[in-house]
Amino acid sequence: MSELMNRQWLFANYPQGLYKPGDFEWRKEPVRALEDGEVLVHNILLSLDPTNRAWGFKHDTYLPMMQPGDVMRGICLGVIEDSRHPNYPPGTYVGGMTGWQEYAILRVDEDGRLPDAGVFPRDPSIPLSTYLGLFGHIGMTAYYGLLHIGKPRAGETVVVSAAAGATGSLVGQIAKIKGCRVVGIAGGPEKCKRLIDEFGFDAVVDYKNEPVAERLAEVCPDGIDVYYDNVGGDISNAALALINLHARVVLAGQIAMYNDERMQSPRNVMNLIMQRGRMEGFVVLDFMADEAASTQATMELAQWYKEGKIRFRTHIVDGLENAPTAVNMLFDGSNHGKLIVRISDDPGGPI
Ligand SMILES: NC(=O)c1ccc[n+]([C@@H]2O[C@H](COP(=O)([O-])OP(=O)(O)OC[C@H]3O[C@@H](n4cnc5c(N)ncnc54)[C@H](OP(=O)(O)O)[C@@H]3O)[C@@H](O)[C@H]2O)c1
Repeated sequence: MSELMNRQWLFANYPQGLYKPGDFEWRKEPVRALEDGEVLVHNILLSLDPTNRAWGFKHDTYLPMMQPGDVMRGICLGVIEDSRHPNYPPGTYVGGMTGWQEYAILRVDEDGRLPDAGVFPRDPSIPLSTYLGLFGHIGMTAYYGLLHIGKPRAGETVVVSAAAGATGSLVGQIAKIKGCRVVGIAGGPEKCKRLIDEFGFDAVVDYKNEPVAERLAEVCPDGIDVYYDNVGGDISNAALALINLHARVVLAGQIAMYNDERMQSPRNVMNLIMQRGRMEGFVVLDFMADEAASTQATMELAQWYKEGKIRFRTHIVDGLENAPTAVNMLFDGSNHGKLIVRISDDPGGPI
Protein backbone atom coordinates (compact mmCIF):
# COMPACT_ATOMS: atom_id res chain seq x y z
CA MET A 1 0.00 0.00 0.00
CA SER A 2 1.35 3.45 -0.88
CA GLU A 3 2.30 5.72 2.03
CA LEU A 4 -0.17 8.52 2.85
CA MET A 5 1.55 11.88 2.24
CA ASN A 6 0.72 15.20 3.88
CA ARG A 7 1.13 18.53 2.06
CA GLN A 8 1.58 21.61 4.23
CA TRP A 9 2.39 25.29 4.17
CA LEU A 10 4.70 26.32 6.99
CA PHE A 11 4.92 29.90 8.22
CA ALA A 12 8.49 30.94 7.34
CA ASN A 13 8.89 34.74 7.82
CA TYR A 14 7.13 37.64 9.49
CA PRO A 15 5.90 39.52 6.39
CA GLN A 16 6.51 43.13 5.44
CA GLY A 17 3.32 44.42 3.80
CA LEU A 18 1.43 41.78 1.82
CA TYR A 19 2.39 38.13 2.20
CA LYS A 20 5.00 37.08 -0.38
CA PRO A 21 5.71 33.52 -1.60
CA GLY A 22 8.92 33.40 0.47
CA ASP A 23 6.96 34.00 3.67
CA PHE A 24 5.79 30.37 3.47
CA GLU A 25 7.53 27.04 2.92
CA TRP A 26 5.93 24.08 1.11
CA ARG A 27 6.52 20.71 2.78
CA LYS A 28 5.53 17.16 1.87
CA GLU A 29 5.96 14.43 4.44
CA PRO A 30 4.44 11.03 5.27
CA VAL A 31 1.47 11.00 7.67
CA ARG A 32 2.62 9.18 10.80
CA ALA A 33 0.64 6.30 12.35
CA LEU A 34 -2.06 7.26 14.87
CA GLU A 35 -1.65 6.63 18.59
CA ASP A 36 -4.50 5.77 20.98
CA GLY A 37 -6.75 8.79 21.55
CA GLU A 38 -5.89 10.43 18.20
CA VAL A 39 -7.86 11.07 15.02
CA LEU A 40 -6.73 11.80 11.47
CA VAL A 41 -8.64 14.66 9.82
CA HIS A 42 -8.57 15.02 6.03
CA ASN A 43 -9.03 18.75 5.41
CA ILE A 44 -11.45 19.60 2.60
CA LEU A 45 -11.87 23.40 2.73
CA LEU A 46 -9.53 26.08 4.07
CA SER A 47 -10.93 29.47 5.02
CA LEU A 48 -8.76 32.43 3.99
CA ASP A 49 -9.43 35.35 6.32
CA PRO A 50 -8.02 38.88 6.65
CA THR A 51 -6.89 37.89 10.13
CA ASN A 52 -4.40 35.47 8.52
CA ARG A 53 -2.29 38.59 7.93
CA ALA A 54 -2.63 39.71 11.56
CA TRP A 55 -1.49 36.23 12.65
CA GLY A 56 1.78 37.08 10.85
CA PHE A 57 2.46 40.07 13.15
CA LYS A 58 5.66 39.74 15.15
CA HIS A 59 3.76 40.08 18.42
CA ASP A 60 0.83 38.37 20.12
CA THR A 61 -2.65 39.35 18.98
CA TYR A 62 -5.77 37.66 20.36
CA LEU A 63 -3.75 34.49 19.72
CA PRO A 64 -0.06 33.88 20.42
CA MET A 65 2.24 35.01 17.61
CA MET A 66 3.22 32.31 15.14
CA GLN A 67 6.78 31.03 15.06
CA PRO A 68 8.72 30.29 11.85
CA GLY A 69 8.38 26.57 11.16
CA ASP A 70 4.81 26.31 12.49
CA VAL A 71 2.17 24.91 10.16
CA MET A 72 0.41 28.10 8.97
CA ARG A 73 -2.58 28.67 11.22
CA GLY A 74 -5.94 28.33 9.45
CA ILE A 75 -9.58 27.42 9.90
CA CYS A 76 -10.63 24.31 7.95
CA LEU A 77 -13.49 21.90 7.53
CA GLY A 78 -12.60 18.26 7.06
CA VAL A 79 -13.65 14.73 7.72
CA ILE A 80 -12.18 12.10 10.04
CA GLU A 81 -10.50 9.48 7.87
CA ASP A 82 -8.97 7.30 10.59
CA SER A 83 -9.54 7.16 14.33
CA ARG A 84 -8.15 5.66 17.53
CA HIS A 85 -10.91 7.15 19.70
CA PRO A 86 -14.37 5.55 20.04
CA ASN A 87 -16.27 8.89 20.16
CA TYR A 88 -14.87 10.12 16.84
CA PRO A 89 -15.51 7.50 14.14
CA PRO A 90 -14.36 7.88 10.54
CA GLY A 91 -16.82 9.93 8.50
CA THR A 92 -17.34 12.53 11.28
CA TYR A 93 -17.13 16.14 10.03
CA VAL A 94 -14.76 18.44 11.92
CA GLY A 95 -14.30 22.22 11.79
CA GLY A 96 -11.55 24.16 13.50
CA MET A 97 -7.98 25.38 13.51
CA THR A 98 -6.42 22.46 11.66
CA GLY A 99 -4.04 24.61 9.62
CA TRP A 100 -2.88 25.05 6.03
CA GLN A 101 -2.37 21.34 5.41
CA GLU A 102 -4.11 18.37 3.88
CA TYR A 103 -4.04 16.14 6.97
CA ALA A 104 -4.08 16.99 10.66
CA ILE A 105 -3.66 14.62 13.58
CA LEU A 106 -5.68 15.76 16.62
CA ARG A 107 -5.49 14.33 20.14
CA VAL A 108 -8.78 14.13 22.04
CA ASP A 109 -8.34 15.92 25.40
CA GLU A 110 -9.26 14.72 28.90
CA ASP A 111 -12.76 16.20 28.56
CA GLY A 112 -13.31 14.25 25.36
CA ARG A 113 -12.96 17.35 23.13
CA LEU A 114 -10.85 18.01 20.05
CA PRO A 115 -8.37 20.89 20.52
CA ASP A 116 -9.58 24.14 18.84
CA ALA A 117 -12.10 22.15 16.80
CA GLY A 118 -15.63 20.77 16.97
CA VAL A 119 -17.76 18.24 15.12
CA PHE A 120 -20.91 19.03 13.14
CA PRO A 121 -23.66 17.06 11.38
CA ARG A 122 -23.40 17.65 7.62
CA ASP A 123 -26.64 18.00 5.64
CA PRO A 124 -25.73 16.64 2.16
CA SER A 125 -28.21 19.00 0.49
CA ILE A 126 -26.25 22.07 1.70
CA PRO A 127 -22.83 22.90 0.15
CA LEU A 128 -20.02 22.33 2.63
CA SER A 129 -18.72 25.88 2.02
CA THR A 130 -21.93 27.22 3.60
CA TYR A 131 -20.84 25.62 6.88
CA LEU A 132 -17.47 27.35 6.68
CA GLY A 133 -18.97 30.79 6.10
CA LEU A 134 -22.59 31.35 6.92
CA PHE A 135 -22.91 28.70 9.66
CA GLY A 136 -19.34 29.21 10.86
CA HIS A 137 -17.18 32.06 12.10
CA ILE A 138 -18.35 34.53 9.43
CA GLY A 139 -22.05 34.20 10.18
CA MET A 140 -21.29 34.47 13.88
CA THR A 141 -19.16 37.61 13.35
CA ALA A 142 -21.96 39.34 11.47
CA TYR A 143 -24.70 38.14 13.82
CA TYR A 144 -23.09 38.92 17.19
CA GLY A 145 -21.20 42.02 16.07
CA LEU A 146 -24.34 43.62 14.71
CA LEU A 147 -27.01 42.40 17.13
CA HIS A 148 -25.12 42.32 20.45
CA ILE A 149 -22.75 45.24 19.97
CA GLY A 150 -24.48 47.37 17.33
CA LYS A 151 -27.95 46.77 18.82
CA PRO A 152 -29.82 48.14 15.78
CA ARG A 153 -33.45 49.28 16.11
CA ALA A 154 -36.02 49.36 13.32
CA GLY A 155 -35.88 52.61 11.36
CA GLU A 156 -32.25 53.35 12.24
CA THR A 157 -29.51 53.85 9.64
CA VAL A 158 -26.81 51.16 9.62
CA VAL A 159 -23.62 51.71 7.60
CA VAL A 160 -21.28 48.79 6.80
CA SER A 161 -17.76 48.98 5.34
CA ALA A 162 -16.29 46.14 3.20
CA ALA A 163 -20.01 45.64 2.61
CA ALA A 164 -19.80 43.30 -0.38
CA GLY A 165 -17.52 40.87 1.46
CA ALA A 166 -18.43 37.77 3.42
CA THR A 167 -19.07 39.49 6.75
CA GLY A 168 -20.32 42.83 5.41
CA SER A 169 -22.94 41.34 3.07
CA LEU A 170 -24.41 39.35 5.97
CA VAL A 171 -24.37 42.34 8.33
CA GLY A 172 -26.38 44.36 5.81
CA GLN A 173 -28.91 41.60 5.24
CA ILE A 174 -29.42 41.00 8.98
CA ALA A 175 -29.87 44.75 9.51
CA LYS A 176 -32.55 44.73 6.78
CA ILE A 177 -34.32 41.82 8.54
CA LYS A 178 -34.33 44.00 11.68
CA GLY A 179 -36.06 46.83 9.78
CA CYS A 180 -33.10 49.20 9.37
CA ARG A 181 -32.09 51.40 6.46
CA VAL A 182 -28.78 49.94 5.24
CA VAL A 183 -25.91 51.68 3.45
CA GLY A 184 -22.89 49.74 2.18
CA ILE A 185 -19.40 50.97 1.30
CA ALA A 186 -17.55 48.80 -1.23
CA GLY A 187 -14.99 49.03 -4.01
CA GLY A 188 -16.11 49.22 -7.66
CA PRO A 189 -19.38 49.30 -9.62
CA GLU A 190 -19.83 45.51 -9.80
CA LYS A 191 -19.76 45.04 -6.02
CA CYS A 192 -21.91 48.14 -5.45
CA LYS A 193 -24.55 46.90 -7.90
CA ARG A 194 -24.54 43.51 -6.16
CA LEU A 195 -25.20 45.19 -2.81
CA ILE A 196 -28.46 46.62 -4.15
CA ASP A 197 -29.60 43.84 -6.51
CA GLU A 198 -28.52 40.72 -4.63
CA PHE A 199 -28.24 41.71 -0.98
CA GLY A 200 -31.06 44.31 -0.80
CA PHE A 201 -29.06 47.29 0.55
CA ASP A 202 -30.81 50.68 0.31
CA ALA A 203 -27.82 52.74 -0.84
CA VAL A 204 -24.12 52.35 -1.61
CA VAL A 205 -20.87 54.28 -1.72
CA ASP A 206 -18.17 53.16 -4.16
CA TYR A 207 -15.07 54.17 -2.23
CA LYS A 208 -12.79 53.50 -5.19
CA ASN A 209 -14.63 55.91 -7.51
CA GLU A 210 -16.50 58.41 -5.33
CA PRO A 211 -15.47 60.96 -2.68
CA VAL A 212 -16.45 58.91 0.40
CA ALA A 213 -17.20 61.71 2.88
CA GLU A 214 -19.43 63.69 0.50
CA ARG A 215 -21.25 60.69 -0.92
CA LEU A 216 -21.81 59.10 2.51
CA ALA A 217 -23.35 62.37 3.77
CA GLU A 218 -25.67 62.36 0.74
CA VAL A 219 -26.91 58.79 1.26
CA CYS A 220 -27.23 59.19 5.04
CA PRO A 221 -29.40 62.34 5.29
CA ASP A 222 -30.50 61.32 8.82
CA GLY A 223 -26.98 60.51 10.02
CA ILE A 224 -25.61 57.12 11.14
CA ASP A 225 -26.92 55.17 14.15
CA VAL A 226 -24.80 52.03 13.77
CA TYR A 227 -21.48 51.90 11.94
CA TYR A 228 -20.21 48.32 11.46
CA ASP A 229 -16.53 48.85 10.74
CA ASN A 230 -14.55 46.24 8.81
CA VAL A 231 -11.99 48.62 7.35
CA GLY A 232 -10.69 51.55 9.46
CA GLY A 233 -8.65 54.41 8.00
CA ASP A 234 -10.25 57.18 5.90
CA ILE A 235 -13.51 55.28 5.37
CA SER A 236 -14.13 55.07 9.11
CA ASN A 237 -13.14 58.68 9.51
CA ALA A 238 -15.91 59.66 7.08
CA ALA A 239 -18.46 57.48 8.91
CA LEU A 240 -17.51 58.78 12.36
CA ALA A 241 -18.11 62.35 11.18
CA LEU A 242 -21.79 61.48 10.59
CA ILE A 243 -22.74 59.55 13.72
CA ASN A 244 -25.91 60.44 15.60
CA LEU A 245 -26.50 60.87 19.33
CA HIS A 246 -25.85 57.53 21.14
CA ALA A 247 -24.52 55.88 17.97
CA ARG A 248 -22.86 52.47 18.23
CA VAL A 249 -19.63 51.77 16.35
CA VAL A 250 -18.86 48.05 15.99
CA LEU A 251 -15.13 47.41 15.54
CA ALA A 252 -15.06 44.10 13.69
CA GLY A 253 -11.97 44.65 11.56
CA GLN A 254 -9.46 47.20 10.29
CA ILE A 255 -8.44 45.59 7.01
CA ALA A 256 -6.95 48.82 5.65
CA MET A 257 -4.35 48.61 8.41
CA TYR A 258 -3.33 44.92 8.44
CA ASN A 259 -0.51 45.41 5.92
CA ASP A 260 0.63 48.69 7.43
CA GLU A 261 0.75 48.71 11.22
CA ARG A 262 1.91 52.37 11.23
CA MET A 263 -1.45 53.58 9.93
CA GLN A 264 -3.22 55.95 12.30
CA SER A 265 -6.66 55.44 13.80
CA PRO A 266 -9.37 57.79 12.47
CA ARG A 267 -9.12 61.32 13.91
CA ASN A 268 -12.92 61.71 14.09
CA VAL A 269 -13.13 59.48 17.18
CA MET A 270 -13.62 62.81 18.98
CA ASN A 271 -17.13 62.82 17.57
CA LEU A 272 -17.91 59.86 19.88
CA ILE A 273 -17.61 62.34 22.76
CA MET A 274 -19.82 64.97 21.14
CA GLN A 275 -22.47 62.38 20.30
CA ARG A 276 -22.09 60.29 23.49
CA GLY A 277 -21.40 57.35 21.18
CA ARG A 278 -19.95 53.92 21.96
CA MET A 279 -17.23 52.07 20.06
CA GLU A 280 -16.57 48.44 20.92
CA GLY A 281 -14.28 45.81 19.48
CA PHE A 282 -14.84 42.06 19.66
CA VAL A 283 -13.31 38.74 18.62
CA VAL A 284 -15.78 36.17 17.35
CA LEU A 285 -13.93 33.31 19.07
CA ASP A 286 -15.39 34.55 22.38
CA PHE A 287 -18.93 34.01 21.10
CA MET A 288 -18.03 30.72 19.42
CA ALA A 289 -16.65 29.36 22.69
CA ASP A 290 -20.13 29.74 24.19
CA GLU A 291 -22.00 26.67 22.94
CA ALA A 292 -25.48 28.03 23.65
CA ALA A 293 -24.69 31.33 21.89
CA SER A 294 -23.24 29.53 18.84
CA THR A 295 -26.24 27.24 18.56
CA GLN A 296 -28.70 30.13 18.78
CA ALA A 297 -26.91 32.13 16.06
CA THR A 298 -26.54 29.12 13.75
CA MET A 299 -30.20 28.17 14.11
CA GLU A 300 -31.42 31.68 13.37
CA LEU A 301 -29.04 32.11 10.41
CA ALA A 302 -30.11 28.70 9.05
CA GLN A 303 -33.78 29.69 9.35
CA TRP A 304 -33.24 32.98 7.47
CA TYR A 305 -31.20 31.13 4.82
CA LYS A 306 -33.97 28.51 4.39
CA GLU A 307 -36.60 31.24 4.10
CA GLY A 308 -34.54 33.00 1.40
CA LYS A 309 -34.05 36.08 3.59
CA ILE A 310 -30.27 35.95 3.39
CA ARG A 311 -27.91 35.05 0.58
CA PHE A 312 -24.31 34.02 0.95
CA ARG A 313 -21.66 34.09 -1.76
CA THR A 314 -18.50 31.99 -1.75
CA HIS A 315 -15.37 32.40 -3.85
CA ILE A 316 -13.52 29.09 -4.12
CA VAL A 317 -9.91 28.78 -5.27
CA ASP A 318 -8.73 25.27 -6.15
CA GLY A 319 -5.61 23.75 -4.61
CA LEU A 320 -3.80 24.13 -1.31
CA GLU A 321 -0.66 25.11 -3.25
CA ASN A 322 -2.41 28.38 -4.22
CA ALA A 323 -3.20 29.54 -0.67
CA PRO A 324 -0.24 31.98 -0.27
CA THR A 325 -1.20 33.98 -3.37
CA ALA A 326 -4.97 33.63 -2.91
CA VAL A 327 -4.85 35.17 0.59
CA ASN A 328 -3.88 38.52 -0.95
CA MET A 329 -7.16 38.65 -2.91
CA LEU A 330 -8.71 39.81 0.36
CA PHE A 331 -6.55 42.93 0.28
CA ASP A 332 -7.01 43.97 -3.37
CA GLY A 333 -10.71 43.13 -3.31
CA SER A 334 -10.56 40.48 -6.06
CA ASN A 335 -12.55 38.04 -3.89
CA HIS A 336 -16.25 38.05 -4.66
CA GLY A 337 -17.61 36.30 -1.58
CA LYS A 338 -16.22 34.24 1.28
CA LEU A 339 -12.70 33.28 0.17
CA ILE A 340 -12.07 29.55 0.47
CA VAL A 341 -9.42 27.14 -0.81
CA ARG A 342 -10.56 23.68 -1.85
CA ILE A 343 -7.95 21.24 -0.55
CA SER A 344 -9.73 18.01 -1.43
CA ASP A 345 -13.15 16.71 -2.48
CA ASP A 346 -15.98 16.03 -0.08
CA PRO A 347 -17.24 12.43 0.02
CA GLY A 348 -20.48 13.61 1.67
CA GLY A 349 -21.91 16.12 -0.80
CA PRO A 350 -21.33 19.26 -2.84
CA ILE A 351 -18.62 21.77 -1.95
N1 LIG B 1 -13.68 40.56 14.92
C1 LIG B 1 -13.78 39.32 14.46
O1 LIG B 1 -13.90 38.35 15.20
C2 LIG B 1 -13.78 39.11 12.96
C3 LIG B 1 -14.08 37.85 12.41
C4 LIG B 1 -14.10 37.71 11.01
C5 LIG B 1 -13.78 38.82 10.19
N2 LIG B 1 -13.47 40.00 10.79
C6 LIG B 1 -13.12 41.18 9.98
O2 LIG B 1 -14.17 41.44 9.06
C7 LIG B 1 -13.62 42.10 7.91
C8 LIG B 1 -14.11 41.38 6.66
O3 LIG B 1 -13.58 40.06 6.66
P1 LIG B 1 -14.17 38.95 5.67
O4 LIG B 1 -13.57 37.67 6.09
O5 LIG B 1 -15.62 39.06 5.60
O6 LIG B 1 -13.50 39.34 4.28
P2 LIG B 1 -14.20 39.92 2.97
O7 LIG B 1 -14.98 41.12 3.39
O8 LIG B 1 -14.90 38.83 2.26
O9 LIG B 1 -12.95 40.36 2.11
C9 LIG B 1 -12.23 41.50 2.47
C10 LIG B 1 -12.73 42.74 1.67
O10 LIG B 1 -12.22 43.91 2.30
C11 LIG B 1 -12.15 44.95 1.34
N3 LIG B 1 -10.89 45.68 1.51
C12 LIG B 1 -9.63 45.18 1.48
N4 LIG B 1 -8.71 46.14 1.70
C13 LIG B 1 -9.43 47.30 1.84
C14 LIG B 1 -9.05 48.66 2.07
N5 LIG B 1 -7.76 49.03 2.20
N6 LIG B 1 -10.03 49.58 2.15
C15 LIG B 1 -11.33 49.23 2.03
N7 LIG B 1 -11.75 47.96 1.81
C16 LIG B 1 -10.80 47.01 1.72
C17 LIG B 1 -12.23 44.29 -0.04
O11 LIG B 1 -13.50 44.64 -0.61
P3 LIG B 1 -13.62 45.84 -1.68
O12 LIG B 1 -13.52 45.19 -3.01
O13 LIG B 1 -14.97 46.40 -1.39
O14 LIG B 1 -12.49 46.76 -1.42
C18 LIG B 1 -12.19 42.80 0.26
O15 LIG B 1 -12.98 42.05 -0.64
C19 LIG B 1 -12.10 42.10 8.09
O16 LIG B 1 -11.68 43.34 8.62
C20 LIG B 1 -11.89 41.01 9.12
O17 LIG B 1 -10.70 41.16 9.86
C21 LIG B 1 -13.47 40.15 12.14
